Amino acid sequence: MTGPVSFEATGEIAVITADSPPVNALGQAVRVGLMDAFQRAAGDAGIRAIVLTCAGRTFFAGADISEFDKPLTDPWLPDVVAYIESLDKPVVAALFGTALGGGLEVALACHYRVAVPGAKVGLPEVTLGILPGASGTQRMARLVGPKDALDVMISGKPVGAKEALAKGIIDQIVDGDLRAGAIAYARELLARGAGPRRISATTIDKAAWPATFFAEYRQSVAAQTRGYFAPERIIRCVEAAVNLPYAEGLEVERKLFEECKNSVHSKSMRHLFFAEREVGKVADVPRDTAKRPVAKVGIIGAGTMGGGIAMNFANAGVPVTLIEANQEGLDRGLGIVRKNYEGAVKKGRMSEADLAKRMGLLSTSLDYGALADADLVIEAVFENMALKKEVFTKLDATCKAGAILASNTSSLDVDAIAAATGRPEDVIGLHFFSPANVMVLLEIVRGAKTGKDVIATAMELAKGIRKVGVLVGNCFGFVGNRMFFPYVRESQRMLLEGMPAEYIDRIAYDWGMAMGPCAVMDLSGLDVFQKLFSEWRDKPDDPAFCRVLMALVEQGRLGQKTGAGIFRYDGRKAVPDPEVAALAASEAARLGVAPVNVSDEEIIERLFFSMINEGALILAEGIAQRPGDIDVVFANGYGFPRYRGGPMFYADTLGLQAVYAGICRYRDRYGDQYWTPAPLLEELARAGSSFAAWHAGR
Ligand code: CAA
Ligand code: NAI
Repeated sequence: MTGPVSFEATGEIAVITADSPPVNALGQAVRVGLMDAFQRAAGDAGIRAIVLTCAGRTFFAGADISEFDKPLTDPWLPDVVAYIESLDKPVVAALFGTALGGGLEVALACHYRVAVPGAKVGLPEVTLGILPGASGTQRMARLVGPKDALDVMISGKPVGAKEALAKGIIDQIVDGDLRAGAIAYARELLARGAGPRRISATTIDKAAWPATFFAEYRQSVAAQTRGYFAPERIIRCVEAAVNLPYAEGLEVERKLFEECKNSVHSKSMRHLFFAEREVGKVADVPRDTAKRPVAKVGIIGAGTMGGGIAMNFANAGVPVTLIEANQEGLDRGLGIVRKNYEGAVKKGRMSEADLAKRMGLLSTSLDYGALADADLVIEAVFENMALKKEVFTKLDATCKAGAILASNTSSLDVDAIAAATGRPEDVIGLHFFSPANVMVLLEIVRGAKTGKDVIATAMELAKGIRKVGVLVGNCFGFVGNRMFFPYVRESQRMLLEGMPAEYIDRIAYDWGMAMGPCAVMDLSGLDVFQKLFSEWRDKPDDPAFCRVLMALVEQGRLGQKTGAGIFRYDGRKAVPDPEVAALAASEAARLGVAPVNVSDEEIIERLFFSMINEGALILAEGIAQRPGDIDVVFANGYGFPRYRGGPMFYADTLGLQAVYAGICRYRDRYGDQYWTPAPLLEELARAGSSFAAWHAGR
């Protein structure tokens, strides 16, 4: 047999093995191969039982996601799984690696399942905006009961072999050789006279799962699934599994799967799936570029960011030396790190032994000499160019040749920082996001002279500390903050125009943002923005620019940390403050800003079209490698809803003509200081094209 699926008879056991690198996705060729192989096993009188497994690094990792945008081709996965289950000879699935989505659905159609101890199984379809569409919703609900099935499908999180065994998803854990273990298990079944065992033939006790269970379940996941399309449909499938015969439940699953697959939500989430994998590729830095070893790290500044960054490395087992301006700074910084770890221990997320181990990896010093043997030093002192230059001059004098010298600056010119050293090829920006031990985004800022091996090392390092590393070019604010500033600017302008902060925030939140713009600024600290803007060489020449924010900083209202900013704070709860509305009104009167009746639609357009326009400039300048990279930045660092795919994909889904027309409308009202359409956007809109098509055509 040629193709990705092979058939081999071992006595009376047939071993069917799929081999389709990299992850044995169930593409059309694999499905054809599986049908052929199972038909052969069914028709071969010498075969009494079948083992299904895969070659390579994993059991089937799911349907082939790249086929979702193409017309369906026979045989469908639902037909393949139905055929496997219908066989009269017992079928054993032998699982290893990650049996996910369609991969687990194939395993559930097999009559028995064994797995190695390290195997993971899951139905992560929800993360792609879809639901298990090859009978997974019906079989899983019957196998483990509606509650556990819903938990697996709504969270999308895989479970390990031990837990899968406890829940009855698998029948046995095989220590040692999987293939041999699975064959032995099949022989044992034959010896016992155990025949096929079909999940589809079982039923769920309706009385045990009344409508109230589903109502309560919906309530319990409401916050976690807010705005998403697929979770509600997964729940409906499980309701069908409880209340309808198997065949009718399958029809419900099929219909709802199609609805999900065709939704903009799913297209957006599939886009992010591939964008998050493409983001690691750098056009002129091949994958095999030699990396520098990073076994010891130094961090300058143990403040908000320095402490969090240190935790990332300690968590990965890398020793860190923290340097501060004085002992008090060191004590405070280390104290906060310890408190964070203690919080994790209290919540049961970490053991006391782990806490001790991680704290043991952190050492402190007031002397730069302690960094002499560091492989990587990350500077995280105040956002001030003169200070950063001073620090880098010292690092140049102290650090060994070949050490990577990085800055965590959130906006400043990395080339200017590099110029303070005699080795600009070793200098790079590593822009972590706050809180640095939690947020997964890492902008890796490439300076004009940054060495390719330094870039390759930084990209690999990001993975090692479980971050999503995105390579960006050097400009004020890089990708994320540069595009976030117009969003901030428009929210601030709307305040001046008389729109209440809580209203702007509610519209942005309902649209899907994790937090509204005003709340997020209060959380970051209004002074942080004020300081950033003060370092901005090309700051807009506009007295009304972020005026409310600046006036609040002048009053010492810095946000959550001072109990008041754009909102007042009752603990961490934001409370609208009439004083801010009054301040906005008096500033507007002073600046001659007229009140505007801003519609909900306009709030969204001004927040996001301004951001998209900046994104188009960034793409044309080559600051981001791809539109998808920008989307990855916003989905991972700015609370942008994954179901909208990121700002650039969102623009494509609206149609660039609509975005362009909106920007022109605001230009007519406000002039061209902020609302000049980016030339790339204009060009693509006129051509009826999209950012995706533009990128694909390059
Ligand atoms: N379809 C198509 N391509 C896939 C794929 C899939 N299901 N899963 C992974 N790939 C590709 C990736 O795009 C990547 O390609 P490149 O090397 O060209 O970038 C390559 O396989 C390796 O993937 P990773 O870099 O992610 O490798 P990893 O070792 O870090 O992770 C994995 C492996 C855990 C399997 C991870 O790839 C993953 O989570 N994949 C998706 C699993 C999933 O969601 N399955 C459900 C699919 S939907 C479904 O099955 C619907 C249904 O009900 C019928
Ligand atoms: P911070 O004020 O909390 O910490 C800075 C620390 O640096 C202080 O503890 C200070 O004592 C120390 N320091 C100052 N000069 C020093 C010197 N010469 N030597 C040693 N230590 C010195 O500031 P934060 O927020 O941690 O910011 C640090 C950097 O990270 C800035 O460049 C900032 O722009 C950037 N950043 C901040 C983010 C945030 O949300 N706070 C997000 C991403 C980046």
